[in-house]
Amino acid sequence: MPVRTIGIIGAGTMGSGIAQVATAAGLNAVLVDVSEAAVDKGVAIVARNLDRLVAKGKMSATDKDAALDRITRSTAYDALRPADIVIEAATENLELKVKILKQLDPLVRPDAIIASNTSSVSITKLAAAISHPDRFIGMHFFNPVPVMALVEIVRGLQTSDATHDIVEALSEKLGKTAITVKSSPGFVVNRILLPMLNEAFFVLAESDADPPAIDDGMKLGCNHPIGPLALADLIGLDVLLSVMQTIHDEFRDSKYRPAPLLKEMVAAGYFGRKSGRGVYRY
Ligand SMILES: NC(=O)c1ccc[n+]([C@@H]2O[C@H](COP(=O)([O-])OP(=O)(O)OC[C@H]3O[C@@H](n4cnc5c(N)ncnc54)[C@H](O)[C@@H]3O)[C@@H](O)[C@H]2O)c1
Repeated sequence: MPVRTIGIIGAGTMGSGIAQVATAAGLNAVLVDVSEAAVDKGVAIVARNLDRLVAKGKMSATDKDAALDRITRSTAYDALRPADIVIEAATENLELKVKILKQLDPLVRPDAIIASNTSSVSITKLAAAISHPDRFIGMHFFNPVPVMALVEIVRGLQTSDATHDIVEALSEKLGKTAITVKSSPGFVVNRILLPMLNEAFFVLAESDADPPAIDDGMKLGCNHPIGPLALADLIGLDVLLSVMQTIHDEFRDSKYRPAPLLKEMVAAGYFGRKSGRGVYRY
């Protein structure tokens, strides 16, 4: 089944990025969020990114307009009926994701695939919430979606080979390189990366180093392109905390405990770039 129309639930950081790569690849995208303002904000991000590509001569103005025309905006899940695949990219919260999947399940075509962009929730657990768990899979994009080359394809225990193969072909069509991983807490990349970002908040709280010093340390000392605190701001401190909590709950290993300073900053609403303030101010 070649994918022509991708439904996306959640028009935030990730959903808007997925909409951008889908329409740039010539596919149709149906972008759904809880309010018109949220959907419009997502499409505005796509438009701004495409404008930049046009300014750099990497895309023609006509192609940009055509890409934006391929995005359908909606606040109703009903708009997702024509989709070949629906990618859930809503807020990282197990109960919310299960609720969304139960609403979506009876609406989608019987042969449609449902995927989740979750960073940490078990794909096996989410698959159990719908009537065709064999057609459920994790499609874990990285932030910023248009820039990052990787997609982790996450197989739950119930995911069929056919579902996997369609999603692998779709990832390639979107210009991504895929690695296939089993559903386990943090999958591969976040299980390694996020404990390092979490550790940077312990260092910030306990050492004399200020944020630029910590970030410069890891950039210059480890050749990382971006420091851990700047990366945490990009990912979203709320997202980082939620994923650390899930990995900690699943493994019950204290090495994954979220840093108290990270919890404090999230409680203060310092979510990072998206809220204008995180470790740094924007
Ligand atoms: N931010 C990252 O770096 C990153 C990377 C990989 C994966 N993820 C995952 O992607 C998902 C989305 O993260 P994000 O960073 O885009 O979050 P975000 O906060 O930027 O966007 C989430 C969007 O979901 C919407 N939403 C909430 N409930 C909804 C509902 N019932 N129906 C439709 N939309 C709803 C919100 O209004 C919001 O616009 C999460 O599961 C997260 O773990 C995030």
